[in-house]
Amino acid sequence: MPHRHRYHIIALAALGFGLLVAAFAMFNWNHANPAVAQEPELPEADGQAIAEFILTESPYQDWGSWTPDRWTDFGAYVQGGEPHGSTIRIFVNDVAQEAVAAEDFDGILPPGSLVVKENFMGSPEEPGDLAAVTAMYKVEEFAPEGNDWFWLSVAPDGTVNAEGAVEMCSACHAQEGHADYLLRYAFGEEPATFFGDPLPEADGDAVMEYVLQTNDYTAWASWPSDDVNIEDFSGLLPGQEPHGVAVRIFVNDRALAAIERDDFNGILPPGSIVVKENYMGTVEEPGDLAAITVMYKVDGFNPEANDWFWVMSAPEGAVDAAGAVDMCIACHAQEGNSDYLLRYQLQVPETAEE
Ligand code: HEC
Ligand code: HEC
Repeated sequence: MPHRHRYHIIALAALGFGLLVAAFAMFNWNHANPAVAQEPELPEADGQAIAEFILTESPYQDWGSWTPDRWTDFGAYVQGGEPHGSTIRIFVNDVAQEAVAAEDFDGILPPGSLVVKENFMGSPEEPGDLAAVTAMYKVEEFAPEGNDWFWLSVAPDGTVNAEGAVEMCSACHAQEGHADYLLRYAFGEEPATFFGDPLPEADGDAVMEYVLQTNDYTAWASWPSDDVNIEDFSGLLPGQEPHGVAVRIFVNDRALAAIERDDFNGILPPGSIVVKENYMGTVEEPGDLAAITVMYKVDGFNPEANDWFWVMSAPEGAVDAAGAVDMCIACHAQEGNSDYLLRYQLQVPETAEE
């Protein structure tokens, strides 16, 4: 009995000493490395600790996001993809932002990087209440086979729903084109691999399903009017042969984001979609929608005609012609076309001309 007792005391003393050493070491470490000391200190690889950190200690809303690149402003409400919210907002801590900005950045975020995504069930215009928060936290040596990401899903009140090396998260995030398991931001070099719903294949039916249902074109904007393109593209315009007598043009976010870029070169990027509604009536009285024509830029689809995939369809989506349709290409290649567009003149910003 007394033997046991003594053993306990020794163990306790050893533990106490150990704690002292650990505390001293931490104290020392903080002082020896002022450059890496964080305010407040980064959390452990633990769901609750990370949730507390991002929700309370260092509220992610104060962080900022990826610098807006050619595709989108990630700090704004943007359309999200399955299985996350239909509307999302992304926040990134200083560790990740600084790493990406560094000249020698090698495409792998350093330990301490935190990426937080808010998920809403509403639309970008009316997101509604925050539904869930998902986060990726890079922890050195945590899971080397998954680039050391710690995955976290929490309810807005901080309840942890999934945490750790969550197979479900990493498996999907490992999809082709990911950048260090990120799917939305590709470190500004390449187009983000994912922009809302996955883009359709180069197939007439798939394209029509996409523009009619998946990413309803009627919710898109049109070309902006400017010095050269003085028309108001947001409404019905008088059309020209062989299209409708009245037409309405819709342009997806990729195309619109591209023309805003300082280095835009006059050629729309892959993923750009231009949809035209064709009516047989007048601008004042258009009557029923008669046909839909689409131009969809698909990387490598048809390089000799700027990779446009052409579709002509009935209003409800029955495809009449699709692909590298000679008839469409021949007429759209006429003099004065702008990347095969006939209505809108794409302008190369002065800053991109060298
Ligand atoms: C079926 C695929 C899939 C699964 C499973 C998945 N995600 Fe995602 N995740 C995406 C896509 C796609 C995006 C791109 C943003 C968007 O459109 O919502 C994304 C974006 C994110 C982002 C923003 C950073 C980025 O990739 O650009 C975080 C953080 C995130 N997911 C966390 C998680 C967590 C945590 C889990 C598991 C609980 C998870 N994800 C499961 C597909 C998935
Ligand atoms: C004989 C010439 C001609 C043919 C053939 C033709 N188009 Fe057009 N297209 C035009 C003209 C002119 C415009 C611009 C005026 C307008 O909006 O009607 C246009 C506009 C468009 C637009 C809006 C983008 C832009 O160019 O400004 C789309 C999309 C489009 N056409 C798709 C098609 C498809 C798909 C086909 C083949 C099924 C096709 N076009 C065949 C002449 C043609």
